[in-house]
Amino acid sequence: MPQKTRFEGVNFDDIPVVEMNPDIVNLCRGFKCKRPEFQSYIGGNLIKTESESILSKCFIVQYDGHLAGYVTLLADKLVVKDPILLNEGVARSTFPAIKIGWLAADRRVKGMGQKLIKWAMEYVASNVSDKIGARFLTVDALYDADVEPHYDMSVYYSRYGFEYVNEEEPVPADGFRSMYFDLLPLIIGLRDLHVSH
Ligand SMILES: CC(C)(COP(=O)(O)OP(=O)(O)OC[C@H]1O[C@@H](n2cnc3c(N)ncnc32)[C@H](O)[C@@H]1OP(=O)(O)O)[C@@H](O)C(=O)NCCC(=O)NCCS
Repeated sequence: MPQKTRFEGVNFDDIPVVEMNPDIVNLCRGFKCKRPEFQSYIGGNLIKTESESILSKCFIVQYDGHLAGYVTLLADKLVVKDPILLNEGVARSTFPAIKIGWLAADRRVKGMGQKLIKWAMEYVASNVSDKIGARFLTVDALYDADVEPHYDMSVYYSRYGFEYVNEEEPVPADGFRSMYFDLLPLIIGLRDLHVSH
């Protein structure tokens, strides 16, 4: 009988996103991501050093002692060229934000990226934005011109409503394209939901 591959047949809908725990070294054994740097980040010392220094916070999805995906969140600022909230009477062009730092899924899991992005949006909108000013999510979308076709994560993030910070930027010099997402509609939606219950 053929052996089942890791995560085969697992329904991740009801499996929660939780804070990274001390067993991460064991959990991430065998974690297979399509970009190897995302394997070594979670499997190496950097993730622990950054977490212990309170420079970023890592959240994971695990199943049966195996890591299925992770996302890190950290404080950031969004700097735009044109003031984007003029219609609300806000003339500034620098805003407090929360950044999606690292995001990765085991390649044997379907829909994990989507689960983690939606979770991050809701988590920040309901747990952070209500307590400190943080209306925007930011991300540095990975861009790799050394592979064919070019690896352009901005296409992926656009699907979820992320916009380019600088739309005219043709090819990113540093391998990343800065993007942002306005959480306000979600924040209002969650507030209304709270009031109606
Ligand atoms: C990005 C990542 C987390 C997405 O997770 P996932 O669980 O594979 O993806 P989802 O199930 O959420 O979405 C799958 C869809 O996204 C598309 N997609 C995945 N990576 C993409 C990319 N780099 N560019 C464009 N589309 C992409 C898939 O083609 C698929 O499209 P379909 O729905 O039309 O079939 C995962 O591919 C990954 O770990 N990538 C390597 C690490 C990485 O690049 N992280 C982001 C750095 S900014």
